[in-house]
Amino acid sequence: MRFTLHIWRQKNCQSPGRMERYEVSDITEDMSFIEMLDVLNLELIEKGEEPISFESDCLEGICGTCGLVINGIAHGPEKGVTTCQLHMRSFRDGENIYIEPFRSKAFPLVKDLVVDRSALDRIIQAGGFISVNTGGVPDANCIPISKHDADLAMDMAACVGCGACVASCKNAAAMLFTAAKVSQFAVLPQGQPERKDRVVSMLDAMDKEGFGACSNQYECEAVCPKEIKVSAIARMNREYFRAKALI
Ligand code: FES
Repeated sequence: MRFTLHIWRQKNCQSPGRMERYEVSDITEDMSFIEMLDVLNLELIEKGEEPISFESDCLEGICGTCGLVINGIAHGPEKGVTTCQLHMRSFRDGENIYIEPFRSKAFPLVKDLVVDRSALDRIIQAGGFISVNTGGVPDANCIPISKHDADLAMDMAACVGCGACVASCKNAAAMLFTAAKVSQFAVLPQGQPERKDRVVSMLDAMDKEGFGACSNQYECEAVCPKEIKVSAIARMNREYFRAKALI
């Protein structure tokens, strides 16, 4: 397969950026999108040109670092996959592909396709700790948790913090991410002692980082590689109002 790539190049957040055009060929349909970019970078290095900066780590869809906007969609055209799990068979041979970084004021651009998403880490840090006794290993099932709640907590914990929800939202809201992280603890018994403080602190941190607020566009749910539903945001809002009422 061969493709014409239009890739955002930008030296740093102070310099102006531009789309650059590249041709790649000898791409197999089983290559991942990241492998295709590796092929391009090898060619650029061999020609003595500056390779394109982009992020990846696990290549297994679990770390969330590989996010790119591909043809206007965070993580590209396939539902429920990260960029590293997107294969070139999802594109037509000869297609033009436009590749841009996750854009948001809260994600300052570092270089080319790399943005600084540490604002998401700071939201998690604001959630604080869980004061359960982590001493000895407890017996299995000594804390009764219903299957419904256990499944729900796992679904919420599936969020990899990639920031696709932010990149796809016209308000650059991080509410799907924050809601998943609030929910994964709020529905479990171990999360109860700090339940109220956690949601208030995380939402305060989210606002402080410059993320916008949800206006029910559902774009976040549409692009989430872990298919987290916007109902998480409703749960987070309930948690917040409940905490504010009781604090
Ligand atoms: S590189 Fe880890 S999710 Fe893609």
